[in-house]
This record gives sequence, C-alpha cells and structure tokens, in this order.
Amino acid sequence: MTDHQWKALDAYFTEHLSPDDEALSAAVAASTAAGLPDIAVAPNQGKLLQLLAAGQGARKILEIGTLGGYSTIWLGRALPTDGRLVTLEYKPENAEVARANIARAGLDKIVEVRTGAALDSLAQLESENAGPFDFFFIDADKVNNPNYVEWAVKLGRPGSLIVVDNVGRGGEVADASSEDDAVRSTRRMIEMVGKHPRLSATAVQTVGARGYDGFLLARVLD
Ligand code: SAH
Ligand code: DHB
Ligand code: MG
Repeated sequence: MTDHQWKALDAYFTEHLSPDDEALSAAVAASTAAGLPDIAVAPNQGKLLQLLAAGQGARKILEIGTLGGYSTIWLGRALPTDGRLVTLEYKPENAEVARANIARAGLDKIVEVRTGAALDSLAQLESENAGPFDFFFIDADKVNNPNYVEWAVKLGRPGSLIVVDNVGRGGEVADASSEDDAVRSTRRMIEMVGKHPRLSATAVQTVGARGYDGFLLARVLD
C-alpha cells in the first residue's frame, strides 16, 4: 500500500460519505488564505468525531487546539441547539480565523473560542465550574498531552469520551529510543492512560489524506 492509494481511497470515502459542504469548504479556503498550516483533520476524520460525539449524546464538548476551526465545525454539528462547545487556541490570529469560520457555519451561538495557553484556560474553566464535558478532542501541542488527558478526566464525568489526535506519527511512536519530544510525550501519555485507574482506552492507526497517524480513544470510568 502506498500513500497514493491511501489518499485515493480517502477521496472516495469522503466523496460519498462526508463531503465538505459550503461552510466547511469556506473554512478550508479562509484558513489557507490566512496562511494556516494544512494540518486540520481530514473530512472523514471530522465526520468520525461528529459521529462519536453524537453517539455520546454530547451536550458539552471541549476541544484543545482550534487552528481554523475545521474540526470545531464538525464537532459543533453534533450538538443540540442549546449545547456548548469550548475550543482552546494559543494563537489569537488562528482564533480570529476560526471565529469567522464558525460564524459562517452558523455555530457562533454555541461555540466559544478561547485564546491563551490551554493549560491556563483549563484551570480557568475549572474555576468557572464549566464542566462536566461529555466529549473531548485533544489536538494541540503534543508535549502537553499527558497534562491535557489529566485535565479531561478532571473536567469530565463517568462516561465522557476523550479522543487524542496524532498518536501514531508515521509509526514513530513505537520507537522507545526516539528523541523527538512529540513522540516521547505521546508515549508518556499512552503509558499513563494505560495505567490510569479512571480510564479505559484503545488506540488505532489511521492512514489516508493526512498520512499515517492514529487516534487514541479513552472512556472515563466511575
Ligand atoms: N483541531 C484542529 C487542528 C489543530 S492544530 C483541526 O483539526 O481542525 C493545533 C493547534 O493547537 C494550532 O492552532 C496551535 O496554535 C494550537 N496550540 C499549540 N499549542 C497550544 C497551547 N499550548 N494551547 C492552546 N493551543 C495550542
Ligand atoms: C501537526 C499537528 C497536528 O495536530 C496534526 O494533526 C498534524 C500535524 C503538526 O504540528 O505538524
Ligand atoms: Mg492533529
């Protein structure tokens, strides 16, 4: 199997099952025009997040890592009209692009983009008693993933679902001797989750439009 075949199959799945509509295409175009990196989830991955959040009956979602709000729009569409999604973004210029994309998708009433370092925003959300959140998507700076998962447990409830992006990294995460900080902290996160008394988890490899990577899924236990 080659990268070319993965991409062709992703294009076929996406064409028939999860094509971008006007708001999503506009979000991609605006993100590109603003010079944001091309690292949002693929359309079929966005739809997977939406299906998982909807299956969860989610009313409150917390996303860490907004970029231009592409995954945010997919997730926001899983919510009822009185739902709430908070998405955390470090860079004000990304947040500005995301806010416009989210408003164009008609989700600005239920989605809040908060700027700042996510660790600060998470502490702030706790002090506001903003939880419990039913669904988490963790997709920001990888070195903080162990901290973000701990925060998700704290801001979640029994039954909450936590999804973490980019846990495969082209297979490099299998390499115990890797000196890449993202790989090392991903491994730390995975090993911490595996031992965590309040989490039941798995991880699956993904291939496709976004190359070779993986998702971790964890359910918060009682
Ligand atoms: N979830 C998005 C992609 C996010 S890319 C999508 O799929 O559409 C990762 C984002 O995390 C970037 O926008 C980056 O600026 C942001 N980020 C990096 N470090 C962060 C931090 N410490 N706190 C909050 N956001 C951070
Ligand atoms: C990068 C970040 C991501 O969240 C992703 O899905 C792909 C790449 C990156 O920082 O390069
Ligand atoms: Mg990612």
